[in-house]
Amino acid sequence: MSRIEVGILGATGMVGQHFIKFLDGHPSFHLTWLGASERSAGKRYSEAAKWHLGGSAPADIANRKVEDAKPGNAPKLVFSAMDASVATEIERAFAAAGHVVVSNSRNHRMEGDVPLLVPEINPDHLKLVPRQQRERGWKGMIVTNPNCSTIVLTMGLAPIMQFGVTRIIATTLQAISGAGYPGVPSMDIMGNVIPFIGNEEEKMQEETQKILGAYTENGVEPLAAGVSAHCNRVPVVDGHTVTVSVEFLTKPTHADLRHAFENFRGLPQERELPSAPKLPVQYMTEPDRPQPRKDAERDRGMAAFVGRLRPCPVFDWKFVALGHNTVRGAAGAAVLNAELMQSEGLLG
Ligand SMILES: NC(=O)c1ccc[n+]([C@@H]2O[C@H](COP(=O)([O-])OP(=O)(O)OC[C@H]3O[C@@H](n4cnc5c(N)ncnc54)[C@H](OP(=O)(O)O)[C@@H]3O)[C@@H](O)[C@H]2O)c1
Repeated sequence: MSRIEVGILGATGMVGQHFIKFLDGHPSFHLTWLGASERSAGKRYSEAAKWHLGGSAPADIANRKVEDAKPGNAPKLVFSAMDASVATEIERAFAAAGHVVVSNSRNHRMEGDVPLLVPEINPDHLKLVPRQQRERGWKGMIVTNPNCSTIVLTMGLAPIMQFGVTRIIATTLQAISGAGYPGVPSMDIMGNVIPFIGNEEEKMQEETQKILGAYTENGVEPLAAGVSAHCNRVPVVDGHTVTVSVEFLTKPTHADLRHAFENFRGLPQERELPSAPKLPVQYMTEPDRPQPRKDAERDRGMAAFVGRLRPCPVFDWKFVALGHNTVRGAAGAAVLNAELMQSEGLLG
């Protein structure tokens, strides 16, 4: 099968590097275009970017020239990992020019005609795309993936939504890689916890309600359940942990919930998309798991891990969820979105 050419907007940044790593050897996407700011355009990738991940950039990428982030010579499908201060206008310009923009930036996530997609949870939200194209007059489109802590929470909740979730309290322990490079100063985070991440709680609350909301002809009807998030930065390198308490309308048993976690599958699994983990949510029975250092990298970082399901004396049940913030919370999420879109015929 011939591979589709793809590009990355913001290829020199931290998330851009995760895209490069994740796309290396991809069976259906071939990375041929690297876009960044004017500061980098015209340079070879190895001169423009300081590689922050383990190993080194693939040789063909290291030698490739970085382009200006302007539509025209880029492939139709572009992944976006641009700085949020510039992503709004540039992503719109690409979509208007006919590009399919699969974005990791926060800028368009909450717009009513833009899918905030988790392929296992809300693939039907892709039905927003025709409206987006009609109303904005775009030949292309923008599809987004959630914030790195939201995706862990929503994957943990998705299997048990069937029991009528009414209220959720979620507390995060977020890895430092989620703040990009150089991120939080080492003097602030070593041996410490920072109980504030700007706008993170608001994002987690509203994105969760959109993702778990229902698609209607008039757009997405947000989930009615109340969501309260507490977000904390902790001295962990990779992997966001979220502790969750949930109140239900029906009163599921421990066995009901565990069965739901263990049997959760989505369209990516049914269609065997290349980046889909076999089990998107994996229930761990050990009393002290999941843990970021031991579990976040499993299944290429594409699954969510759930454990410690036990009664909550205030709500009904509580549990722990874990996911890899720069893979399932960033580059891997966007690549899986594009794989779903390809399987839906949206890439032409
Ligand atoms: N870090 C994470 O774990 C994470 C997780 C989820 C989402 N995100 C989101 O992903 C995006 C990228 O984050 P990051 O941590 O990778 O940031 P970053 O390391 O600062 O990289 C930003 C990228 O944007 C490019 N850029 C800046 N100004 C530009 C312009 N005027 N035109 C075109 N490109 C421009 C930069 O290119 P130059 O090198 O040429 O300046 C660089 O490639 C952000 O929107 C962030 O909120 C990050």
